[in-house]
Amino acid sequence: MVQPAQRVGGRVRPPGDKSISHRYAMLAAIADGVSTIHGYSTGADCASTLRCLRGLGVQMHETGREPVAGIEMRITGLGIRGLSAPADILDAGNSGSTLRMLAGILAAHPFRTSITGDDSLRRRPMRRIIGPLEQMGARVTSATDRPPLTIEGSSHLTAIDFEPEAPSAQVKSAVLLAGLHADGVTRVHEPLPTRDHTERALEAFGAEVVRTGSGVSVAGGQRLQARELVVPGDLSSAAFWMVAAAALPGSEVTIDHVGLNPTRASLLDILRRFGASVDVEEAGSGDAGEPMGTIVVRHRALLDTHIGPHEVPGVIDELPALAALATYGGALSVTGAGELRVKESDRISALTDGFRRMGADIEERPDGFQVRATCRLRGGEVDAHNDHRLVMAFAIAALGASGPTTIHDAGAAAVSYPEFFSVLESLRA
Ligand code: S3P
Repeated sequence: MVQPAQRVGGRVRPPGDKSISHRYAMLAAIADGVSTIHGYSTGADCASTLRCLRGLGVQMHETGREPVAGIEMRITGLGIRGLSAPADILDAGNSGSTLRMLAGILAAHPFRTSITGDDSLRRRPMRRIIGPLEQMGARVTSATDRPPLTIEGSSHLTAIDFEPEAPSAQVKSAVLLAGLHADGVTRVHEPLPTRDHTERALEAFGAEVVRTGSGVSVAGGQRLQARELVVPGDLSSAAFWMVAAAALPGSEVTIDHVGLNPTRASLLDILRRFGASVDVEEAGSGDAGEPMGTIVVRHRALLDTHIGPHEVPGVIDELPALAALATYGGALSVTGAGELRVKESDRISALTDGFRRMGADIEERPDGFQVRATCRLRGGEVDAHNDHRLVMAFAIAALGASGPTTIHDAGAAAVSYPEFFSVLESLRA
């Protein structure tokens, strides 16, 4: 149950970036030598990646864990094509990134792996990776184009030129990771740019990646070298505090050590368009080429904002948080975001339903939604559909309501941000 708040204030270091943590763990597993990863995400999704890698014979040790700085992992790489056949079906839990990206690596291993996940993951579409991985020479079977998938890898993958139907960093990454093991040069042409963490991570582990306009390519047969890397804080988790600061009059929140990769940071421009004051101080990129720094967000009067199809990939995971912001002031319309319907839940329908139950003026559209802050929310009882980002979006909207809000399935926040509710209490002014 979340009680209303007057304002929020303070300093936060968000958990390690979920997208980057998955990639560093997977690349460390197929590199030569022992990698050390600092600030690995404490979320359940990234634990799913480690569990799957262990099932594939990868040795690893957690060498430290701190509430703020995250997990320190030491992973012994098995080298390219060094994974071994798992004894059991692998369980990716709630994590689409784990399943889709690992499928790209498994496509190149000449054994059979079955991989599944929880109820939510077993509803998510996989044709988008099955198509290109089969074209490269793997066999991927599934009864319904949804998990469980059975992947029969091949040690002779062929490079492809691939254009995904919808912009997706997970699909791009699956193809590039398979391409790293293929004969020839694999190219992905993106309809719209998506987060480039895989490209930067491959380069950090010593691979050559070529970027040309909307395309990215990787030559097969390259080996990866173990590294010591620091994961920046997760901007998508920090988004909830930025939104809370922008929403509640008199608020100011400072976010330290947060990732500022430009392919992930559209949120900052959108918050400014909403009227918020957003100051960014870059602290450099570190060895892995992932920029990070400090962000300060302060409340200002909120304005009307539109987010269109071109902007959606850069802010796909922050749309629930931005919907929460629009319940405080101004208005938000989002179009071209049909992908939200195939995330951890049907986010368009579930967020429309939840915010409406709290008293919001919100309209569901086939490919988006519109929120108008015509009146103050009253709070109430909402179902987060076991979706971590909806739990946190409802909690931030609840701070501005006139009464308390009960969020069902609130434990799902642990998928990306186990510390979310304790940080929320610490920021109440
Ligand atoms: C992610 C890419 C996005 C995003 C997901 C993480 C990634 O998914 O929504 O939370 O780490 O590459 P899509 O690639 O399906 O758009």
